[in-house]
Amino acid sequence: MRAAASARGALVGTALAASHLAADPDYAQLAGSQFNSVTPENEMKWEAVEPRRGQFDWSGADAIVTFAEAHGQRIRGHTLVWHQQLPSWLTGGSLSPAELRQLLHEHIATEVGRYRGRVGAWDVVNEPFNDDGSLRSSIWKGALGPDYIAQALTWARQADPDAKLYLNDYDIEGVGAKSTAMLELVGSLKANGVPIDGVGFEGHLIVGQVPPSLQQNIARFTGLGVSVEITELDVRVPLPASAADLSRQASDYGRVARECLAAQGCTAITVWGFADRYSWIPRFFPGMGAADIYDQQLRPKPAASALRQAL
Ligand code: G3I
Repeated sequence: MRAAASARGALVGTALAASHLAADPDYAQLAGSQFNSVTPENEMKWEAVEPRRGQFDWSGADAIVTFAEAHGQRIRGHTLVWHQQLPSWLTGGSLSPAELRQLLHEHIATEVGRYRGRVGAWDVVNEPFNDDGSLRSSIWKGALGPDYIAQALTWARQADPDAKLYLNDYDIEGVGAKSTAMLELVGSLKANGVPIDGVGFEGHLIVGQVPPSLQQNIARFTGLGVSVEITELDVRVPLPASAADLSRQASDYGRVARECLAAQGCTAITVWGFADRYSWIPRFFPGMGAADIYDQQLRPKPAASALRQAL
């Protein structure tokens, strides 16, 4: 997969967990050989990097950055501003809006600054929208107002002028209220001179349900002059997985990759973990799973062949 992607100037990525890199040599071997981009699955989130106020723990993030650099891989930083996986000292309710604003600025400056020149792209703001396209209520919107997005992007650019800055969300793969809201936001950010380089379509899909308007939707964004990446692709199936579903799943992976790569400006496809052995899906969607391209035994599934062929 990696060779196929590199040959055409594309990126094929995976989310990685530092704990598995350390404990599972077979996982680490595949992670280093099959992908030319990596995203820390949890290690760069605020609760991980600053579990107590002013006390930083970069061990997980550093482990993945070091691994990626040793293997010549691009790093997607994930994620600076989100409403989830925040440390409890931050969400406890005792901080004023002015303090929260200051803390967010420091967080972005500290984390982006630490990895300046090493992280190629950042998911600066993650999942800002509700399903109907309204802006999600969050600690950040509450403290800074809707302008928190522009503010975060501006602070990120100041901390690393060379990193590509992304907004990332789920259920924006097809044309709909949520993706249209993202499109309008990107348009207005650009019109106001706010730094924004791209949009991440997460791509947490159900087998057989690749949105028919994916390609059209990618074109709406690239038409605004921003890049699109598929940032968290997985395709969940009902358990136990049937051969028919795994075959449909392979078609879905291939289709997403082809439709991305067909567009000028969609040059990266990242899977959200490459192996069913460690997937987040069964914990979050009971009865569903087998969403990744390698199985529990780390054997390539039909989806791995389909992705490689698409690349
Ligand atoms: O680290 C603790 C561990 O100390 C504890 O013993 C254990 C017990 O539950 O939990 C561990 O934390 C878990 C963490 O993953 C690390 O494994 C959390 O419970 C669990 O909720 C957390 O789930 C992550 C989830 O984000 C949280 O929202 C998933 O691994 C991760 O794949 C998922 O990733 C998100 C993206 O960041 C954004 N887009 C959606 C995507 C899927 O939800």
